[in-house]
Amino acid sequence: MKPEVVVLSRLGPPPIMDALETAYRLHRLWEAGDRQKALDAASSARGLVTTGSLGADAALMDALPALEMISINGVGLDAVDLPAAKARGISVGYTPGVLTEGVADMAVALILAASRKLVEGDRFVREGTWAGGAKLSLGWSIRAKTVGFLGFGRIGREIAKLLSVFGITALYHEPAPLEAVAAGYCDDLVGMAGESDVLVVCCAGGSSTKDLINASVLTALGPDGLLVNIARGSVVCEADLVASLEAGQLGAAALDVFADEPKVPEALLTMDNVILTPHIASGTTETRMAMGQLVLANLEAYFAGKPLITPAPTS
Ligand code: DGY
Repeated sequence: MKPEVVVLSRLGPPPIMDALETAYRLHRLWEAGDRQKALDAASSARGLVTTGSLGADAALMDALPALEMISINGVGLDAVDLPAAKARGISVGYTPGVLTEGVADMAVALILAASRKLVEGDRFVREGTWAGGAKLSLGWSIRAKTVGFLGFGRIGREIAKLLSVFGITALYHEPAPLEAVAAGYCDDLVGMAGESDVLVVCCAGGSSTKDLINASVLTALGPDGLLVNIARGSVVCEADLVASLEAGQLGAAALDVFADEPKVPEALLTMDNVILTPHIASGTTETRMAMGQLVLANLEAYFAGKPLITPAPTS
C-alpha cells in the first residue's frame, strides 16, 4: 500500500507532482476547502511535504498523529518547528545546495534591475511618459562598488562570486569570521552598511536574525544605498524600511521576501525606487525541478528505511 503524504502546496514543474502522485497517496491540502476536514482525513499520513516559507508548526504536526517524516521543498528552516519535530521523533529533510545558483542569480538580477532602473523604465515606457517627451533619471553602475552581505553562506558566496566580474569589493557580517572566504569580515553590521553601496540580506530567518535590518542599518546604508533581500522578510524591520525610504534616508530597495507573505506593506507599492517580487528567487524550472527531485529523494529514502539524503541540521 502506498504511504499517505500530506502536501501543503503544489510543487515544482508537473513531473514532480506526477512522481509524488505515483509513489504516494496524496492529501492535497491547498485544494481543500475545509483545511481541518482535510487534516482529519489525513490521520494516517506518515509524510508531509511543505515549503521553506510555509514550514510546519507544532499545531500542524499535532494534527497529524501518524507523521514520521517532513520533506521541505526549500533551504530555509525557520518556519519549521524543529524542536517539536525532534520531540516527536519526526525526521526532517530539506533541499540545500540545489537552489544556491538560482537564488544568487536572482539577487544579481535585482541589483541590476534596481541600479539600472529596469522596472521603473518599463513603467515609464508603458505609461507613455517617454512618448510624452520626458526623460528617465540616470541609474548607477554596480561596477567597482562595495557590496555588504548579511550572512555569507552558500548563497552569499555565490552572489559575491557572480558580482566579482563587476570588480566589486565584498564585505560580510556573520557572528564570527569565516575561514577561506574572499571577502572582508565586519563584526559590526551598521559599520558594514556604512561602507556599502549595496547591502544584500542572505542570512537565515528566525528569532536570531529578526529585525536585524533596522533604522540604524538603513540610515548607515544611506540615501544612495540599495537594500536587497532574497532571504526572509523577518530579517528586515518593515516599518523602519518604509520610514527610511519615505524620509529619503535609504536610496532604494529590491525585495523578494516579506514579513507576512503574501502581504506587502502598502506604502512600498507606490514607490518608484522599490522593486517587489513574490518570493521567486528559486523560481526557475531548473531549480524547482532539482528541489522537487531532492524532496522526492528524501521521501523515498525515508520510506525505504535509509538515511535521508539531506537531513535538516538539527533533526
Ligand atoms: C527556501 O528555500 O527556503 C525558499 O525561500 C523557498 O521557500
